[in-house]
Amino acid sequence: MKQVYVAPSLLAVNKNNFKSAIDQVIQLGVKYIHFDVMDEEFIGHTSFSFEDFKKVKPMHQVNNDVHLMVAKPYEYAKEYAKLGADIITIHYEALKDDSLRFDCLNAIKKLGVKVGISIKPKTPVEKVLPFLHIVDLVLVMSVEPGLGGQSFIPEALDKIRKCHEYIELNKLKTLIEVDGGINETTGPLCREAGVDVLVAGSYLFNHEDIKERYQKLVK
Ligand code: DX5
Ligand code: ZN
Repeated sequence: MKQVYVAPSLLAVNKNNFKSAIDQVIQLGVKYIHFDVMDEEFIGHTSFSFEDFKKVKPMHQVNNDVHLMVAKPYEYAKEYAKLGADIITIHYEALKDDSLRFDCLNAIKKLGVKVGISIKPKTPVEKVLPFLHIVDLVLVMSVEPGLGGQSFIPEALDKIRKCHEYIELNKLKTLIEVDGGINETTGPLCREAGVDVLVAGSYLFNHEDIKERYQKLVK
């Protein structure tokens, strides 16, 4: 089976403990830190701010994987690119047609960062396939975006499989990421389906032995 990476989600971490949480996962060899950004319009509440990102950024040297769950993604992307994001993922559902989606993704690429597109659980996977040749990453949401600690929605597996098939068939390099409810049971299922990056929040951090949990996800 191909290698799978874990992107620890800081949403599961108390802001006062960012440093020690990041130190621990960096020691384990993670290549991504997942940073969730939400706004009132798209989600109904907020999560992290630009100020939070400014604090987190100097705490590590790996990829800053910024997941924008906001209604006006380009406005946020501009700022996060300036602040040093490496990958910026927008939501398919945030924009109302494909022309706006292509324009937004291309504009974000011009900021000099990698770009991703994400679909919520109720969005059919076929909607996102036409974007896979221009993005670096496709993020399959396996819970409704907004909160950590929810249960994995199994339909995500079929979406991962379909993205994987499409990527292979078209010889693309697009990475597949999955976010929500990832644990020692759902992680391996996603891996079998062809995922590259597992976002993990509560499973990883709400346990005293992060190392043991990390190893269960990558083994
Ligand atoms: C939810 C966020 C996730 C969240 C996942 O909207 O996008 O990144 O932190 O949390 P867990 O791993 O606890 O489901
Ligand atoms: Zn996320």
